[in-house]
Amino acid sequence: MDRKWWKEAVVYEIYPRSFMDSNGDGIGDLKGVTSRLDYIKDLGADCIWLCPVYSSPNVDNGYDIADYRQIMADFGTMADFDELIGQAHARGIRIVMDLVVNHSSDQHVWFQESRKGRDNPYSDYYIWRDPVDGHEPTNWMCCFGGPAWTWDAQRGQYYFHEFAAAQPDLNWENPKVREEVYDMMNWWCSEKGVDGFRMDVITLISKPETFEDGPVSAEGLRPDAGQYTCNGPKIHDYLREMHREVLSRYDLLTVGEASGSGVEDALLYTGFDRGELGMCFTFEHMDCDADEHGKWTMKPLYLPNLKRVMSRWETGLEGRGWNSLYWDNHDQPRIVSRWGNTAPQWWALSAKMLATCLHMMQGTPYIYQGEEIGMVSFNWQSLQEMNDVEEHAAWETYVDQAHIYTEEEMLAIISRKGRDNARTPMQWDTSPQAGFTTGTPWLPVNPSYKTINAAAQIHDPDSIYSYYKQLIALRKAHEIIIYGDYRLLEPEDEDLFIYTRRYEGQQLLVICNFSDRTRTLPDSVRALGPAPEQILISNYREAAEEIRPYEAVVYKQAAPADGR
Ligand code: GLC
Ligand code: CA
Repeated sequence: MDRKWWKEAVVYEIYPRSFMDSNGDGIGDLKGVTSRLDYIKDLGADCIWLCPVYSSPNVDNGYDIADYRQIMADFGTMADFDELIGQAHARGIRIVMDLVVNHSSDQHVWFQESRKGRDNPYSDYYIWRDPVDGHEPTNWMCCFGGPAWTWDAQRGQYYFHEFAAAQPDLNWENPKVREEVYDMMNWWCSEKGVDGFRMDVITLISKPETFEDGPVSAEGLRPDAGQYTCNGPKIHDYLREMHREVLSRYDLLTVGEASGSGVEDALLYTGFDRGELGMCFTFEHMDCDADEHGKWTMKPLYLPNLKRVMSRWETGLEGRGWNSLYWDNHDQPRIVSRWGNTAPQWWALSAKMLATCLHMMQGTPYIYQGEEIGMVSFNWQSLQEMNDVEEHAAWETYVDQAHIYTEEEMLAIISRKGRDNARTPMQWDTSPQAGFTTGTPWLPVNPSYKTINAAAQIHDPDSIYSYYKQLIALRKAHEIIIYGDYRLLEPEDEDLFIYTRRYEGQQLLVICNFSDRTRTLPDSVRALGPAPEQILISNYREAAEEIRPYEAVVYKQAAPADGR
């Protein structure tokens, strides 16, 4: 298999608004990120994925870009960016930018011009349609509540938006749009020296040839636009063109956010011979606790489903494409609250277990700020406290309009699944506001910071932080973790997630207990002869015969000769 730096890297995701505030205005910024680079270096991450830092009115916290070549005033200046990338590179840390080109902000000059009329140079930069029978061209809902079409009185037409009305979708059919995007990407690579792109909702850029109504649910919910726009007819043409015009010219990490995509799609996006992307982010494992209301449900996780999905991606891409591995990001609740256990006796154990389960798989692991110290989700008490446009929209849909959930139910669901859980400020220490800001933070600090914070963990060899550090160091020391083949054992076991990795006659045996029950080792695993002296890493201090609650243990042994 081809060696690439991005296959061997560990990526640390930063949501700048919530990472570190340098000037006391309550909003994290670039100078704040620079001031914490040594922390990331100490952890051992090779690369930072920086969520959008471009100029933006912040309807969706930077995912609505008004100027692709300017830095958001809240975050600082271009000089601050240059300083950040210079300081990062000096430490051997690469910088991957968020690329948000499915849509722009409605404040972007392209949209401002486009809405003026049908015959100016920007008229076709967005997706405009006439009304059908006096209403929207289709009955699709956008991702953030309400119709996916908004009427623009100035132009006298509807425009399409997959997300908020302030995020109009760009028209990728227009070659001028594509050229603008490639120019801008080349500029960030050649002028600014960035090391890659995380491509926001990239599977949505090619729209269907015809726009048609979809079915309305029994509860009266209209269909999501996303199901009609993902993996569209020209998506691979566009990505191959982007590869030719930009990506092939540099040594970049590229990762496409791939909602609505299965393994077969991922092979097309990331196949080694395809000339498209390096890897993509699947949503399939994140959907294991979703139901007919999407993520807005309290449905618990059934472990065999998670194992099936993750194993399908592991074996499906093996030798042909590349996986990215994640539990947390700025759109997901905190994993230890979601699939671990935050009770004091299990919190650290379960956070380490989840980390082990993910980091021992084949693919590039992503750590989201705070995950490495076991940050937990927030207990939201009212809608007013929340910032996220998606949470507000879901409230309107599920509580106000369709009456599917009561206010209490929705608060519980948002506390479990909402995006703001990931966006409360990074917990640095026990000083006021967790050391994130000297001012008033833009989103409340999680009160857990008194016990869960970086300062308490950096020097503690038993901490979650130190455990992550160890996992990263192991990856650097053992190629089997990067390149080994994957095989799932005991697929139907409801507590244990067990798999092997094989490489050059060696084998890793990874055993993770997702439950608070003590279990005996299944016979098939005992037959592999795991022995205490083979332990590479474990979240319990002493070895034991049984598998204890939330235990994670990894054995390194000779692979069985018979290839079992
Ligand atoms: C992606 C981003 C998310 C954003 C959306 C629209 O899913 O990760 O934060 O709201 O795209 O840009
Ligand atoms: Ca600030």
